[in-house]
Amino acid sequence: MYTHQSYNVKNNVKNNVKNNVKKIYKHIRIIFLYMRLVNNLKTVLITGGTRGVGLELAKMFKKQNYNVIITGRDSNYSKKIAKKLNNINTNGIVKGYKLDFLDINGSSKLLNKLQDKTIQPTILINNAGVLMLDNINNITDKRLDTMFKVNTYGPILLSKLCKDHIWKTREGGILFNSPPYQIDNKTTHLMPYMQSKLAQTTFMKSLANSIPQSIPTDKHNIIVASFWTNYPLLTDAIIKRGIGKEEDCMHPAILSDTIKELLFNTKNVSSYNGKEIIDEDFLNKRKIDITKYKMSKNVSKLDKLFMNHLIKK
Ligand SMILES: NC(=O)c1ccc[n+]([C@@H]2O[C@H](COP(=O)([O-])OP(=O)(O)OC[C@H]3O[C@@H](n4cnc5c(N)ncnc54)[C@H](OP(=O)(O)O)[C@@H]3O)[C@@H](O)[C@H]2O)c1
Repeated sequence: MYTHQSYNVKNNVKNNVKNNVKKIYKHIRIIFLYMRLVNNLKTVLITGGTRGVGLELAKMFKKQNYNVIITGRDSNYSKKIAKKLNNINTNGIVKGYKLDFLDINGSSKLLNKLQDKTIQPTILINNAGVLMLDNINNITDKRLDTMFKVNTYGPILLSKLCKDHIWKTREGGILFNSPPYQIDNKTTHLMPYMQSKLAQTTFMKSLANSIPQSIPTDKHNIIVASFWTNYPLLTDAIIKRGIGKEEDCMHPAILSDTIKELLFNTKNVSSYNGKEIIDEDFLNKRKIDITKYKMSKNVSKLDKLFMNHLIKK
C-alpha cells in the first residue's frame, strides 16, 4: 500500500538519481571538451627528451601549449620525466615512450603508433645522440655500429615516419641537432663520431630539398633545418665524459631558446629550410644576450674544450 511517506522517499530517490546523472553528464562533457582541446593542440616529438638539451626543449614546448612526446631508452624513466613535466601548468600533455635505436623491436609501441598514424607530430626534433671520442685508429666496429644507429639511422627512420603528415598539413617541421658542414681539427680527431653526425646534416639538406614541389614555397610553413651550439652545454655528454666541468659550460636553454625564437618568433620560418642554425649567431642577430646562459665567466667555445681534452688524452 502506498503511504505518503513512501511516496516522498521514492520521489527523493528519483530526484537524487536525476541530479547524479546530471552531474555525471556534466563531468563527461567537461572531460570530452578537454579531450577535444588536447587533441586539437599540436604535438612535438623530441627524441632523447629525458635529460640535457632534449629536456629543455620539452619544457619550452610544454610552455608553448604543445602536446609533447619525449623518448628515452627506459620506458619507466621517460614516463617519470613526463609526469614531472606535466606539472608545468598548460593544456598540453606530456607523454613518455621508450625509444632505443639499439633496440628497435623493444621500441615498437611508439614506432607502431607513428606508423599507423595514431600519433602525428607537427614537429619532430631529432635530438638524441651518442658521443664517442675514439679516433679512426682505435674505433671498433661495435662502437661504430652504436654511433651510426643512434646518430644516423634513428633520425632517418623517424623522419620517414613523420614527414608525410607535415607535408600534407603544410606546417611544422623536422629539426636535427647536428653540426654544420666544416672540416677542421675536431672533425679529424673525432672522425667516426663527426661522420655519424654530419650524415644527419647531409640528410637534413636532402630532406629539405624533398618537400614536394607541388607545395609552393609561399603556401607552406614547413621548416627542415639543423641546429647546433658553439658552446659546451651543461649536460651528461660533457660532464659525465669528463670533457668539461660545470663552469666550462653554457646552460642548455641556449638551444631551446634558439628553437623557440626560430619557430615562434620568425616571420618566414621556411626561409631557413636546409640551413644550419648556430645558436650564438642566431641569437646575436636577434639581439638576445647570450651571457645569461654562461655557468661562469670562463666559458670557452665547444671546439676549444674538445681539442684541449683530446690533446690531453
Ligand atoms: N652537450 C653539448 O655540449 C652538446 C654540444 C653539441 C651538440 N649536442 C647535441 O645535443 C644532443 C643531446 O645531447 P645532450 O648533450 O643533451 O646529451 P645527453 O644528456 O647525454 O642526452 C642524450 C639523449 O639521447 C638519448 N639516447 C642515448 N642513447 C640513445 C639510444 N640508443 N637511443 C635513443 N636515444 C638515446 C638519451 O636518452 P636516455 O639516456 O634517457 O635513454 C638522452 O635523452 C645530441 O645530439 C648532441 O650531439 C650537445
